[in-house]
Amino acid sequence: MIANARQRIRVELGDARSYDVVIGPGAIDELTAIEARTVVVLYDVAVEALAQQVLTAFGSRVLLVRGLVGGEDVKSWELAGEIYDWLADVHVDRDTVLIAIGGGTVTDLGGFIAATYLRGLRWCAVPTTLLAAVDAAVGGKTAINLSAGKNLVGVFHHPSLVAIEPAAFTTLDPRDVAAGMGEALKTALVADPELFAFLEREMPRALAADPDVLATTVAHCVAAKARVVAGDERETDDSGAGGRAILNFGHTVGHALEKTCGYGVLRHGEAIVLGMRAALALSRERGLAPAQADRIMALVNAIPAPRPDAAPDAIIKATASDKKRKAGKVRFILIHDVADPYIVDDVTEASVRAALTAIA
Ligand SMILES: NC(=O)c1ccc[n+]([C@@H]2O[C@H](COP(=O)([O-])OP(=O)(O)OC[C@H]3O[C@@H](n4cnc5c(N)ncnc54)[C@H](O)[C@@H]3O)[C@@H](O)[C@H]2O)c1
Ligand SMILES: [Zn+2]
Repeated sequence: MIANARQRIRVELGDARSYDVVIGPGAIDELTAIEARTVVVLYDVAVEALAQQVLTAFGSRVLLVRGLVGGEDVKSWELAGEIYDWLADVHVDRDTVLIAIGGGTVTDLGGFIAATYLRGLRWCAVPTTLLAAVDAAVGGKTAINLSAGKNLVGVFHHPSLVAIEPAAFTTLDPRDVAAGMGEALKTALVADPELFAFLEREMPRALAADPDVLATTVAHCVAAKARVVAGDERETDDSGAGGRAILNFGHTVGHALEKTCGYGVLRHGEAIVLGMRAALALSRERGLAPAQADRIMALVNAIPAPRPDAAPDAIIKATASDKKRKAGKVRFILIHDVADPYIVDDVTEASVRAALTAIA
């Protein structure tokens, strides 16, 4: 896809909640087509100019605007509580649409507020980080954090529209580009062989934030996520082949690393890059062909990620408290090959310990 073409991908939920993800220049123009008497805008101050364009487009229909400093801290009870009070002060009602503009932290918070205030307002997401565009803002998961762990309080609540302006990615910190590519490569590895082949050719340009390469990557990821979510909206498919849970490839160890290193030290996507190395080592142990494992590992390793400062014992302990665990067992998503994932819950501690050497 070239960055100056606009693309539309439908997230089909089988009912009136189905929605479009629009990718390309001018995608935000489609926001004003959403039926809304008034709007509330929460935006990351890192994308002030983009937020101003949205505010100008809505003019006098804007009821409330709040600029937030994006980052894990916004996904808090305290801020959510403050925002509920602001919404009450300006008499938000069910004809008000909430618009969240920012990275995954702002879209997770915005979606959570929309899901819970008045038992559910409609909302739109304008993801401005690569990670939010390829993953966080699509699929209806919303959440805030507790001190006990990330995303512990949340609800499923799909947006009515997702508008992605690839030009927004040009101002991202290189670490945020890499983090987004980590999550994008994850999607390729579990669900999109074409994207995998594309990234094998284009990873250097992707990491250099080439707009055409990123626009193509985002379009692939959104389409893949839409397919997976359409098949298992609430991650209840327990078959070994996995439904939505396959999107957690790299996340068992990734989440454990985020926790043991201290939240905020690793970007989420960086932790997933590291987690994928461990998941690939485990996949290899269970039969992923060595040559193919090497080929995939080379692409994972092409994405820079810091060396984590965490002891194997602490990481292993943290995997045991992962919220994705089932019936007390730690679940791993592994792959037989690209786009051929499966779920296991019988990985031994010794195997995890061995797999962790792939990270160091
Ligand atoms: N709901 C889901 O399905 C889902 C999926 C994956 C991740 N997530 C969540 O997403 C969050 C991570 O998202 P993230 O990586 O976008 O983090 P983030 O929101 O913290 O954004 C990263 C940084 O980029 C800045 N930023 C945002 N847009 C920018 C732009 N265009 N230019 C320059 N800087 C910009 C932010 O201010 C922040 O400093 C985590 O909380 C994770 O749990 C949710
Ligand atoms: Zn993730």
